[in-house]
Amino acid sequence: MSERRLQKDRLPRHVAIIMDGNGRWAEARGLERNAGHREGVEAVKAIVRAANEIGIPRLTLYSFSSENWDRPKGEVQELMRLLDHYLETEVDEVMRNGIRIEAVGRLDRLPPLVRKRLDDVMERSAGNREMTLVFALSYGGRQEIVDAVSQILRDAERGQLDAENMDEKTFSAYLYDGDAPDPDLLIRTGGELRVSNFLLWQIAYAEIHCTGTMWPDFRKDQLVDALLDYQGRERRFGLTSDQVRGPQSENS
Ligand code: FPP
Repeated sequence: MSERRLQKDRLPRHVAIIMDGNGRWAEARGLERNAGHREGVEAVKAIVRAANEIGIPRLTLYSFSSENWDRPKGEVQELMRLLDHYLETEVDEVMRNGIRIEAVGRLDRLPPLVRKRLDDVMERSAGNREMTLVFALSYGGRQEIVDAVSQILRDAERGQLDAENMDEKTFSAYLYDGDAPDPDLLIRTGGELRVSNFLLWQIAYAEIHCTGTMWPDFRKDQLVDALLDYQGRERRFGLTSDQVRGPQSENS
């Protein structure tokens, strides 16, 4: 299996996924869209397990965008129900596997019972160290940046921050996921080629892997393919190839 080709010492520290294609997966089968979301949860379970087995330290899943609130009421309700049910039924496995659950986004907009469930699971799992699983919920990348700027202005007014001390590291600390490492790899399923307002600041240097596989069909094999694709890339962070490869490569 291609998993054996993965270089364990070159795994991304953070993988972020835009889980797209649930609706089209369902429509292609003559099913209602929510059936695609339900199968999407099976993919979430499989990918969390696979990422943990492979040794990915941090996984962020774009589970509900700030724009998704405008979908038909029945679809929003079903997505909230699925999230709640996932948290309720997966918490034991999450704890057994040492997974810490976190969330980013405007969590205050979540229905109170879902918010409560999320807070409980986050609190219960806070000491886990094997892997961190982050749900992006009611999340928008531009909103995240605006929220950071608002907080920066408030802190500056209180005299806790001044313009001279502002740099990228200080700014990052104001984002929802604070000091967490940026995603090294961004995966998008469902065949579209866009970032859809996801982690706009954090993906500045992420490698992007887009696949036509619809999210409900995404499983460990597809994750391994994405990781192999990532490991085949040369990450230059604005430098030249020679600089990245070191002095020996210039003569080779
Ligand atoms: C995109 O598919 C997917 C979403 C809007 C939400 C992703 C949600 C899940 C996988 C289930 C939620 C459950 C948990 C546990 C987080 P789409 O509906 O935009 O697909 P389409 O582009 O084919 O219409």
